[in-house]
Order: sequence, then structure tokens, then C-alpha cells
Amino acid sequence: MQATAEAMDEVVRKNREIYDNTSGADWYLTVYEGAHQGWEFINLGGLTVANRIAQLLEIDGEAHIIDVCAGQGGVSRYLAAQRKCRVTAVEWNPGQVRTIRNHLSKAGPGIASRIDVVEADATTWRADELADGAFSMDALMLTPQTGALIANTAKSLEPGATFAISVICAGEHITDAMRRFAWDIDGMIHLPGPGWYAQALEQAGFEDVVLEDCTDVAIATSETMERALRANEARIVAEAGPAVFRGWKDVGAVYLNAFRQYQLMYLFAHGKLAR
Ligand SMILES: C[S@@+](CC[C@H](N)C(=O)[O-])C[C@H]1O[C@@H](n2cnc3c(N)ncnc32)[C@H](O)[C@@H]1O
Repeated sequence: MQATAEAMDEVVRKNREIYDNTSGADWYLTVYEGAHQGWEFINLGGLTVANRIAQLLEIDGEAHIIDVCAGQGGVSRYLAAQRKCRVTAVEWNPGQVRTIRNHLSKAGPGIASRIDVVEADATTWRADELADGAFSMDALMLTPQTGALIANTAKSLEPGATFAISVICAGEHITDAMRRFAWDIDGMIHLPGPGWYAQALEQAGFEDVVLEDCTDVAIATSETMERALRANEARIVAEAGPAVFRGWKDVGAVYLNAFRQYQLMYLFAHGKLAR
């Protein structure tokens, strides 16, 4: 999809509104501690998908991988800690980049020296040195330039390297109202059906493309977050206010229902760059 300058301005404005601050008590209690064992993952795949990525990319101490749209760098830090690999974390939101750098300044040298943080638009940024693999968790629905972003990522990878993507896309029962909600609340502007990702990966030069429906993982994580939210109601209301608590509750219920009804689908797509 070609994005007009005006559409991109709106995407950036939405990005700042949503991602400038994802460090409040509501995020910790509901998402990071509530669903991801304290890791600052802003995604629905959690440790299940992060471990699957590590396995698919064959990540070990020799590997250099790219975390495309890294958020607060939770997944970068998890993989660097568990697999001792080098990670380049690419993220364009300045607040998120500050948070990753702040964490790394307090982390032991074993982690800090393994992660490079780059503040850049992943649609155009290129690595100086080709990487052994790349992944992107829960970000590619947030830009109208997803095809260009996938093609650009391919240019930073060694031949044979795997690119693995978890992403929310359209399920077969999506409605216009759901699309509007996903844009208004979370800036999801790109919600094609899953087949679009197979085509985009193939057009970018990836082979052996596999699409896996991981909607069950999204449902399980959403249910865990709902339980954590209820269990921590008093603290969230005290620290973030009743409106914030109600927002999480109402929005969470809509998404959970959308996944259950296949209005939305949680996709895990991957392929290997042709040699
Ligand atoms: C839902 S968060 C996921 C963060 C992280 N991948 C994780 O799983 O914890 C999506 C992130 O993608 C970032 N993002 C969106 N479009 C981007 C782009 N074109 N370049 C770099 N980062 C981008 C957003 O700023 C946001 O931090």
C-alpha cells in the first residue's frame, strides 16, 4: 500500500499517543507481570512465541539478530539473556528507545554489551553488517508500509536467514466496526487477511514461507491479562485512576471477543531468505 504523507503523519501521531508511555503501573500489573512473567513484552505471543522465534532462527551465542519494531526491548533482552546472542533493536518511538536505553544502563555487562539500540524507522533503516535472522512481534499492523518494511528487512539479512513475524491480522469475520475500533484504540491501520503476509514475504525474496494460526495463544494471553487486571483492580485504580482501569477492562473484552469470533486472527509467519 502506498501511504500518503498525510496518512503517515496520522500514523506517527497515533504512535506517540499510544507508545510514548507504556511504563505505568497498569502496564506492569496487567501485561508485564500479569501475563509475561515480568518481561516487558508488548505483545500477545509472550514467551511461547519468543521461544518459538529463538528455535526457528536457531539463535545461539554466535548469532546476530534484528528485533524489528522492538518496543521497550523486552524480547531483545529476553533473547540476549537466554540465548546469549547479539541483538539490534530497531524502534522509532523516542520514548520507547529511552526506556530500552535506561534498562540497558542498569543491566549487567552480559546483557548491555549484547544489545544495540537504533532509533529509526524500520521501513528504511539498514544494518551495516548482514544479520543471521530477524523477527518482529506485534508491530506490522501499525504501519501502512508493511510490504516496504518486510522488503527492507530482507536487505539486512544473510542469504538463508529466517524472518519471523507475529502480527494481528483480519480474521474471516472481521467487520468495518472492528477495523475502526482497532485503528482508534491501537493505531492498527494494516489489517489484511493472513495470505497477504505469504505474498509479501515471497515478494521480498523469502522462501519456504509458513503461516501459522496462533489465535489460541492470543486468546490465552488476553484471558491471563483479564485475570491479572481483575486481581489488581484496587492498585491500578489507586495508581492510574478509575478511567484507566475501565479502559483496560472494556478494550480487553472487545479484543478477546474479536479473537474468539475470528474477527481478528493472531498470525505467526516466517520464511527463509533465498540463497
Ligand atoms: C505493540 S509494540 C510491540 C513491541 C515489541 N515488538 C514487543 O513485542 O514487545 C509495537 C512497536 O512497534 C513500533 N513501530 C511501529 N512502526 C514502526 C516503524 N516503522 N519503525 C520502527 N518501529 C515501529 C512502535 O513504536 C511500537 O513500539
